[in-house]
Amino acid sequence: MSGPLASSAGSTTDWWRTAVVYQVYLRSYSDGDGDGIGDIAGLRARLDHIASLGADAIWISPWYPSPMFDAGYDVADPRGVEPLFGTLEDAKELLADAHRVGLRVLLDIVPNHTSAAAPKFQAALAGDVEGRSWYHFVPGKGPEGNEPPNNWTSGFGGPAWTRTTNPDGTPGYWYLHMFSAAQPDLNWSHPAVGEDYEKTLRFWFDLGIDGFRIDSANGLVKAEGLPDLGSPEAGDFHPAWDQPGIHDIYRGWRRIADSYDPPKIFVAEAWFKDPHRLARYLRTDELHTGFDASLIEAPFRAGLLHQALRHPPAAANLAGAPPIWVLSNHDTVRHRTRYARSQPEQPRYSDWDRKRWPDEVPDLALGLARARAAALLILALPGSIYLFQGDELGLDEVEDIPDDVRQDPTWEQSGHTDPGRDGCRVPLPWAGDRAPYAFVPAASGGAGDATPWLPQPDRWVASTVETENGRPASTLSLYRAAHEIRHRLIGGQDKLHWLGAAVDQPDQPAADESETGRFGPELIGWRTGGLTCVLNAGLEPAVLPADLRAELSGLVVVLASAGRSVQAEQACPDQIAGSSALWLAPPGEG
Ligand code: BGC
Repeated sequence: MSGPLASSAGSTTDWWRTAVVYQVYLRSYSDGDGDGIGDIAGLRARLDHIASLGADAIWISPWYPSPMFDAGYDVADPRGVEPLFGTLEDAKELLADAHRVGLRVLLDIVPNHTSAAAPKFQAALAGDVEGRSWYHFVPGKGPEGNEPPNNWTSGFGGPAWTRTTNPDGTPGYWYLHMFSAAQPDLNWSHPAVGEDYEKTLRFWFDLGIDGFRIDSANGLVKAEGLPDLGSPEAGDFHPAWDQPGIHDIYRGWRRIADSYDPPKIFVAEAWFKDPHRLARYLRTDELHTGFDASLIEAPFRAGLLHQALRHPPAAANLAGAPPIWVLSNHDTVRHRTRYARSQPEQPRYSDWDRKRWPDEVPDLALGLARARAAALLILALPGSIYLFQGDELGLDEVEDIPDDVRQDPTWEQSGHTDPGRDGCRVPLPWAGDRAPYAFVPAASGGAGDATPWLPQPDRWVASTVETENGRPASTLSLYRAAHEIRHRLIGGQDKLHWLGAAVDQPDQPAADESETGRFGPELIGWRTGGLTCVLNAGLEPAVLPADLRAELSGLVVVLASAGRSVQAEQACPDQIAGSSALWLAPPGEG
């Protein structure tokens, strides 16, 4: 089952510092049992695809028992496996298979909230006092308690509070949910919550999981008294996020992770504008790494990409952790489609692209050219890279999902103003010339005709793994070649050396003057280890400045995102095509 490229994960305990991690959104990766929903059996059957990319690890979205109101981020039992996805036995087999092909396995953990179906929450609704102490059950405001306890809003739209009904039918307390009402927030000031979570960590670590991606990692602890956002008691920050008490929790988790040999690892999902705030989670006795959204938020403009590339290293340098990079995930519009429209002049929030839908028809060919350049951009960076499944096929966001099959709670909860995240979660196309593109196994229900849980577009016939496998110029071939070169030429390097960059943010000058002024307005370039990357974010070809050409004259092109992806070793050209990136290295290294 092993792919052509050896994983660089090796046996070191520091593998996570430079790992390329492939995000498996389980419902949409591959369906093993023919019900139209991806599962563990489907993933096991197609691990070779991930291994063939040369990835070091996979991150799997939550597979726990769940009513699936938020696609599994509503967990009813954190120490079980949802029957839709398989069994605990399947999970063990998957771990064995993955480890056999050199892939480590990270699982998603969701400590901020549970499902409303979790036994403790059900007991709480039935009036159980101990159950209530696991959650935030609070009397409402106003004489009748008719108003929510505070002004917090849910991440999916609407108030963060829902009123309960007492067992005798009278209106009761309100409970807190920072996401949907089906996801009550846990009360982390109740000691039993933390004790139970430690049990959960050990349960999966003992089974062989190598680490966790921590969902909403800057949530969990809420400010004392649950003050209104914007009130003097709340101070400058949101009282539901990034509270000081969180750090002791993660110190305790780190001790558990470090008690294993080799140690287990954590990656935090915590969206921060200020690198100092993320850095506090990455101290050596807390979490190992944390996502940084800067590349997700950066439009495809040289100055803004340059600015984004300086953000994760800032947090990492402050904490001694490696930077980690991501272009897309299961919560964002796929970057091919983000890049397929006119690019704003400022970084944007992750749902920005969804909310303007469908104001501007995407130019998917341009989006693909930029996405291919972005593949060379991200894989030429030091630190750890997270790829979202389907990035390697150049998939686009499916924006025309019929309203009646949309599943993301965001759609309903926003009053149909936000189409939600289904568009990036459409099941992968594997083979064949029509949906379900072998996502569903052929043996099931006669010829693999079961309907995938979200409809796949006809245009994906050109983007199946089967089609792209056979084409040297495909995006899949580009990713494979880039991974292989990355492993060889970047290795464990953790420094990025700027060759030059455009700055189109006059109010945000580069930290180092030498980074700027040398390139035209659309170019950026840097070197990591033995690999040099130059990217032209403009639409037109750009001439490389003479002094840079002289500096690069000893190098040859080893990979290019435009045209034929793998070039014969040709000298550094005088100009670089629009919306493209080049990789250069000393002769003989390609
Ligand atoms: C996850 C989302 C999820 C939310 C609530 C996020 O950060 O990535 O997919 O809906 O947490 O659990």
